[in-house]
Amino acid sequence: MEEATTVTIAERIERLTAKILEHQHRYYLLDAPTVSDAEYDALMAELRRLEAEFPLYIAADSPTQRVGGEPAAQFHKVRHPVPLLSLANAFDLQDLEEWRQRAHKLLTEAEREDLAYVVEPKIDGLSVTLFYQEGVFRIGATRGNGQVGENVTANLRTLKQIPLRLPVMPNSSLQVEPILRVRGEVFASKENFRAFNKKYIAEQQKDKNPKGYANPRNFAAGSLRQLDPKITAQRPLDILVFQQIAGGDLTPDLHSEQLRRLRELGLPISASLPRFTDSEFDRLLEHVSKMELSRHDFSYEVDGLVIKVDSTSVQERLGSTGKEPRWAIAFKYAGETVVTKLEKIEVVVGRTGSVTPRAHLEEVPLGGVKVKQATLHNFDYIESLDLRIGDSVVVTRAGDVIPKVLKALPELRTGAEKAWHPPSQCPACGSDLVQAEDEVAHRCLNRTCPGQLARAVEHFVSRSALDIRSFGSEQAALFVETEALINRISDVYFLPWDRIETIKGYKEKRIGNLQQGLAEAKQRPPERLLHALGIPFVGAQVAELVVAEYPNLMTLPHAIQEDLEAIDGIGNEIAESIVDFFADPVQRQELQALNLAGLTVKGKPAPETEASEGAVAGKVFVVTGRFAAFSRKQATELIKAEGGKVTGSVSSRTDYLLAGASPGSKLSKAQELGTTILDEEAFQLLLNLPKTHAE
Ligand code: IVH
Repeated sequence: MEEATTVTIAERIERLTAKILEHQHRYYLLDAPTVSDAEYDALMAELRRLEAEFPLYIAADSPTQRVGGEPAAQFHKVRHPVPLLSLANAFDLQDLEEWRQRAHKLLTEAEREDLAYVVEPKIDGLSVTLFYQEGVFRIGATRGNGQVGENVTANLRTLKQIPLRLPVMPNSSLQVEPILRVRGEVFASKENFRAFNKKYIAEQQKDKNPKGYANPRNFAAGSLRQLDPKITAQRPLDILVFQQIAGGDLTPDLHSEQLRRLRELGLPISASLPRFTDSEFDRLLEHVSKMELSRHDFSYEVDGLVIKVDSTSVQERLGSTGKEPRWAIAFKYAGETVVTKLEKIEVVVGRTGSVTPRAHLEEVPLGGVKVKQATLHNFDYIESLDLRIGDSVVVTRAGDVIPKVLKALPELRTGAEKAWHPPSQCPACGSDLVQAEDEVAHRCLNRTCPGQLARAVEHFVSRSALDIRSFGSEQAALFVETEALINRISDVYFLPWDRIETIKGYKEKRIGNLQQGLAEAKQRPPERLLHALGIPFVGAQVAELVVAEYPNLMTLPHAIQEDLEAIDGIGNEIAESIVDFFADPVQRQELQALNLAGLTVKGKPAPETEASEGAVAGKVFVVTGRFAAFSRKQATELIKAEGGKVTGSVSSRTDYLLAGASPGSKLSKAQELGTTILDEEAFQLLLNLPKTHAE
């Protein structure tokens, strides 16, 4: 009490904040709390009370701000200053040995002698980056296509394992760096995922087809891409950081050292990081084989291991081939397998007309789910496996998701098995199937085939497209194939309700749910609608890239191929596919009809980089001196474009002095006032600019 009279409100808030952050660190990361839950809650309540009274003092990294803000209309795009690469895969130990030999060839003898590797679990989740500025967590983004991701800062803030502020450690080499950019994986533990999904499905019991998440990875992605952070906050998500990308202490130049230091800063790092020198490569291979069994002991899904060259300067020397670094490789474990009976083969027509055979199996548990069906790819695949109805077959879950028939076990045949012959007509409309010369798939070319349309409708209403609640594959088959109420996609929005009322099982309540689902989906952003249209090669991610350039979908039919190809991440094949699609008058009419039905065809143009929440939004800069890569005028423009302000002289209101060569008196003034001083490189990092070097 006495304290309150001598300590200012601002100081009180700051102390409380620091205390709470410390307790969170102890609780979530060290698993060693020093206060009871009640004491912790009391501290939080006190902070909330003070902040409510004095909102001026709410810090960006206040623990009360983990769930803050309003739901976003859409995610802003973030261009990654350094592209986020993916990994090449190795499927056996031989692949690993070959990878090592390729690296050897590119290195000098001295480098080979010092070569060492770190082996990490490959976590099956969603790749993200975290950006800290002066120790404060500022921006978190998904990997997206590696070049451009989505700003999901508000959602990532809800993960208690992510420190909102990194500690200052004056007595060690761990000073908080002006800039630190790391990469990690957001995931859900197997246990949390199962428990959540069970509850989630139970909550939807009223629905005919309650939808759960298929696996922890989809769950992590779906939860992190919620527009309302309050929903993300209720999801049991976790994160492990696996790479330091920029900033931070880089000496000694070892990846394993960097991770260790990140751990000391409070960032969550995998507990298992064995290191092997090049001469111990045999032991490394042994470790990789052994982990095949013990990977199931991890509390989260591990779909393989990542082997990385430890020295970051050798990493740089090895470089990358396009999208994959030469200094790292993913060792992928094969999915679990199981033996069951092949009961029948069904042929289904897809939304683009290709027909695929599907195996119906005697139900078996596999990797935690019950499997009744599996993919058989195409007719040639069945022939190459010499599959017969009634065969015992080996089934796996490829990438631990879609079940797939690997082979038959002819030694278990009884003689009762029956040969299977591929159909020559479409199973849905009876038209002749054709096989293009360069394709393995057989196709139904009937553009009004109800089978194709039912699949297209299924896609249109699916979760990643328009997510129309109460409308699933059952309704698609019923309304298209059985009742012929839908003759084109847009008919989903022009259903004859008086006729539906006469269908068995479609009472008032069910119809109400359907109508509500349809009405809600009208508000989905235009990229979801674009994805829903089912243009070949235009998935959710491509749709986002397109809408960022064409925020009004109604203008897209006028786009020419060159303009589409100019969009980063869109190549010639995708551009051609979009142009071909809208060259068809039927498709243009479809878009018109959906517009008339009231679906959202216009979005806000998404700025390429963050403006309202950008790294320098609201920050005051002073620019002085000369720079190698830009003029002072250009620097000023860049700052303004990123939402910052530039003034002429350094004062207590100045957040940053951007200082180049020959800075003059402004530099000493800034040093006097303790203003943060940025050099050219720090500035480029802060503004997400590509690094440029002076000649
Ligand atoms: S390193 C350039 N390490 O796997 C470095 N990736 O298949 C690239 N992943 O997109 C990534 N655990 O999201 C790395 N320990 C780990 C990882 C890991 C999971 C993911 C990551 C990446 C994907 C590549």
